[in-house]
Amino acid sequence: MAKESTARPFYTVLVLAFVCSALVAGAAVGLRPRQEANHKLDQKKNILRAAGLYKKGGNVDELFTAIETRVIRLSDGSFVPPEKINPAYFSPIKAALDPETSNSLRKDNDPAGLSRLEKFSLVYLVRNQAKVEQVILPIRGKGLWSTMYGYVALNRDLSTINGVTFYQHGETPGLGGEIENKDWQDSWRGKKIYTPVGKPSFQIVKGRVSAASPLKQYQVDGISGATLTMKGVTNLIHFWFGENGFQPFLNRFESQGGIDG
Ligand SMILES: Cc1cc2nc3c(=O)[nH]c(=O)nc-3n(C[C@H](O)[C@H](O)[C@H](O)COP(=O)(O)O)c2cc1C
Repeated sequence: MAKESTARPFYTVLVLAFVCSALVAGAAVGLRPRQEANHKLDQKKNILRAAGLYKKGGNVDELFTAIETRVIRLSDGSFVPPEKINPAYFSPIKAALDPETSNSLRKDNDPAGLSRLEKFSLVYLVRNQAKVEQVILPIRGKGLWSTMYGYVALNRDLSTINGVTFYQHGETPGLGGEIENKDWQDSWRGKKIYTPVGKPSFQIVKGRVSAASPLKQYQVDGISGATLTMKGVTNLIHFWFGENGFQPFLNRFESQGGIDG
């Protein structure tokens, strides 16, 4: 009987490893378009949820026709024409990674822990005839373990919250991960972001909001065991509704009577 080469098992393992890695890489590349499509669909669902327009079992793309997506320049809040930047293909998160399309943030200007801020962002408008009924804004910022991504929908007064959703994060399930809890998110409805003089004052308190608190219209109960995540959420709201975030857009939009630009 011929003696088996000692190198043979080695080559067999090598070939097997090569075939398996080619299969895994091929599947990852092949599935990427589907993953991206699912991610976009999930984002749309969350925008609809924040606006209170999501219907279980409804066709998300159809429901989303009620929403107009626009690109804005964060520095002055002006609208950017779709011929210049097409909102269908624009990602603020990708823009924030590119030094050409973003600016670095100084530490003292970066309570949300973003490091870089995109020059342009997306806003979502819900109209009734010409009048805008709701403005939905993308938010993100550092929690305890991760960057948390979500949307806040404002009523036409551009201060009262109509809804919030968080669609991606890596906080601990049952602790910080409870930012996904629908009852908690519902407790944001009707709360205000800004004081009458335009100061972002929304805050998540530790424990329960006191009925006697003079600030209760700006306050939401904290989730227990998640104080650091809650701090992150308060910080990111302050950033995104402050002067480096959407405040220039909201001020400009309000001065135009909420019509257009
Ligand atoms: C395994 C593990 C996971 C944790 N995950 C979170 C979290 O996601 N968010 C958070 O704020 N705190 C988390 N904590 C708790 C924090 O370390 C800290 O104790 C907590 O924020 C204090 O909140 P409390 O004052 O509401 O109890 C975690 C702790 C452990 C041990």
